[in-house]
Amino acid sequence: MYSVGISGVGSYVPEKIVTNDDLSKIVDTSDEWIRTRTGICERRIAEKDIATSDLCTEAVKKAIRDANISPEDIDLILVATVTPDMAFPSTACIVQKNIGANNASAFDISVGCSGFLYGLAIGSNFIATGAYDTVLVVGAEILSRILDWKDRNTCVLFGDGAGACVLQRCESGKGILSYDLGADGANGHFLTQPAGGSLNPASIETVNKRLHYVHMDGREVFKFAVRSMEKASKRALEKANIPLEAIDYLIPHQANIRIIESAAKRLKIKRDKVYVNLDRYGNISSASIPIALDEAFHKGYIKKDDIVLFVAFGAGLTWASVLLKWNK
Ligand SMILES: CC(C)(COP(=O)(O)OP(=O)(O)OC[C@H]1O[C@@H](n2cnc3c(N)ncnc32)[C@H](O)[C@@H]1OP(=O)(O)O)[C@@H](O)C(=O)NCCC(=O)NCCS
Repeated sequence: MYSVGISGVGSYVPEKIVTNDDLSKIVDTSDEWIRTRTGICERRIAEKDIATSDLCTEAVKKAIRDANISPEDIDLILVATVTPDMAFPSTACIVQKNIGANNASAFDISVGCSGFLYGLAIGSNFIATGAYDTVLVVGAEILSRILDWKDRNTCVLFGDGAGACVLQRCESGKGILSYDLGADGANGHFLTQPAGGSLNPASIETVNKRLHYVHMDGREVFKFAVRSMEKASKRALEKANIPLEAIDYLIPHQANIRIIESAAKRLKIKRDKVYVNLDRYGNISSASIPIALDEAFHKGYIKKDDIVLFVAFGAGLTWASVLLKWNK
């Protein structure tokens, strides 16, 4: 098996900023409530004529440049998203066309906010076995399109954006050391977009009942998040035989500062070793970790040979962690 590392990273967020005060004009909420309960101050929202594939394409161009490869080098494109351009073709195929990755196969991954880390695990296995040399993993969302802007419980939490990584072989013993993926389908009903699929196809009734929007039991998801982030992190460490104290940097899914702080506390990781950008972006589901990684790496917070842990939870319900020895 070959060692597999991240050779390029890039991200893109829309320019339009929507603040908590802006939201307080639409729903019964306040900047104070949102900040104290979530840590979010503002989020980016895509313009009407922009699709998820457009955000992917911008992030991917940067990741390709960062890895110093050309689109023809890419063997596989994986796009993790719950807000694809449409049910089919996949957003990954649209990105393939947009960037001219003519030698790539392509498919989408639907794992909610854990999707990007599932993508890293899937993509790295293709390279580790020698099947492929170069895999592009993208996490991208336009969650603003599936939010109920009349529901204060959900509309204040999310935002839009995209992040991308190029995976390639790396020096032996570096790159991805281990991962832990999991699912708890029995509790999937806590976070859903109920209509628009084969169970509840789009109809006047589903639209009137607002079933095409995000429905969430926030308290249940909160409890699941804290538990699963600790468990997934410890499992990845055990698999790589690396102690907790060896972690140099934690990049968690950016959903709620209280979830992040509680996970960091359980893992005994100091606050200055944890990257947080949810104050500026809110929760961008599968895009949150690659965007945070892009910022953390390019700001110099992550250095060569650092032990870096990514951990996420999301719809499904699902969880995922990936442990790396940073090789770039
Ligand atoms: C959603 C979340 C922020 C709510 O925070 P909380 O402290 O659990 O708040 P509660 O659910 O206890 O609600 C407290 C009150 O605030 C109200 N509230 C909810 N959203 C509000 C808002 N935007 N502004 C003002 N009040 C709000 C609720 O209606 C509730 O009022 P009630 O007690 O009169 O019913 C929190 O549970 C959370 O972050 N959960 C995880 C969600 C998540 O990560 N989802 C994405 C998964 S990838």
